[in-house]
Amino acid sequence: MPASVICGLQWGDEGKGKVTDLLAADVSIVVRYQGGDNAGHTVVIGDETFKLHLVPSGALHPHIQPIIGPGVVVNPRTLIEEIEMLESRGIEMSKLRVSAAAHVIMPYHVALDGARESAAGEEMIGTTKRGIGPAYGDRAWRTGIRMGDLLDPDLLRSRLGTALTEKNALLERAYGSRPFEFDSLFSDALSWGQRLNAYVTDTTRIVQDALARDEHLLFEGAQGTLLDLDHGTYPYVTSSNPIAGGACTGGGIGPRQITQVIGVLKAYSTRVGAGPMVTELDDEVGAHMVEVGREYGTTTGRRRRCGWLDFVPLRHAVQINSVSSIVLNKLDILSGLDEVKVCVGYRVDNEIVEEWPLSASVLERAAPLYESFEGWSQDIRECRSVDELPPAARRYVAAIEERAGVPVSHISVGPERTQTIEVSGALLGTASTP
Ligand code: IMP
Repeated sequence: MPASVICGLQWGDEGKGKVTDLLAADVSIVVRYQGGDNAGHTVVIGDETFKLHLVPSGALHPHIQPIIGPGVVVNPRTLIEEIEMLESRGIEMSKLRVSAAAHVIMPYHVALDGARESAAGEEMIGTTKRGIGPAYGDRAWRTGIRMGDLLDPDLLRSRLGTALTEKNALLERAYGSRPFEFDSLFSDALSWGQRLNAYVTDTTRIVQDALARDEHLLFEGAQGTLLDLDHGTYPYVTSSNPIAGGACTGGGIGPRQITQVIGVLKAYSTRVGAGPMVTELDDEVGAHMVEVGREYGTTTGRRRRCGWLDFVPLRHAVQINSVSSIVLNKLDILSGLDEVKVCVGYRVDNEIVEEWPLSASVLERAAPLYESFEGWSQDIRECRSVDELPPAARRYVAAIEERAGVPVSHISVGPERTQTIEVSGALLGTASTP
């Protein structure tokens, strides 16, 4: 029963959608296991570009059943818009299923996210303002509304009534914002439930039945390891668990059912929002990464912060995700730089730190210690084997493999599916486990 997890090893935006695309032919179900419409992925098929936030990227393949698992927070309006957009462009969505246990992002969550960010001043997280944190907060506080609740008017009335009393008090008194009116919110929520009724079900049953039939399932994480609520740079993180373990709680599988974990790594670092990023570059090299790599957020359009690859969190990410193999993306973006650097340690208060410090305040005081590699000037976008890569690029990839301690199975040298170098055979089932 093969179950592969795809997760990001940095701060998100590593190009996980392309990996799903590479694996799609062998997969029957793609499950999104955490996050919400804070995520964004762009999928290019032929001349068409699709921007998705909630529906897993595998949805564009007709043979794949897309599933939104119980660990996702769903903004029903975004989901309805996305389904309608895809259907209007000829993508069949009747197989989509959404967990009845997934929590709903209500309009008051979005309002609270924005209000708190505005009030936070220097302490703002730089969230996507999609209501992610407040919705997960309600889930943990057991005051949330779940997708299944939208289908039960009596239950919805009572849960919404309780939640709204609290939320309106908070919005009005803490933030001086406008309260929500119960009747119109209730009627909106009922209409979302009616529209999405056919999709909402127990997705864990679908997942387990498919595994029992020996089908191959893919669990697609959003964001990345360093934005993980427990293992990232708290509080500058998202409110869910993008690490591979999140696929268990948020996707509906047990740890022993995961057969491989594919870690997706960008050849340099990017980050959106606030929080420490030790290798950030404010110079022309950083500008090169932004412009050549088109590093602007899919969801918010924000310019991503760019910098050199950081080996310090890489080993941490490989370990806590139990990564089997790495897909290295966007190596082509580094072409044309005279020198390519990687961070191998930090200097913090006159001490050398080589292990990832779990405290954002330590990271804020850290200065990077770099190892330098010769750059390469050749355009590598047409390379299709490792041998065709310039020796300097090969040395860079070898250093990543050595530090990570797991093989790089694929190297991406451009956005197209064909612009991929297969290093170590097929992705499925061949990689080692650390
Ligand atoms: P939130 O998830 O909207 O609460 O935002 C929390 C942090 O995660 C912010 O720094 C966001 O910029 C970041 N973030 C959320 N989603 C993504 C993503 O898909 N890619 C990159 N960063 C993200």
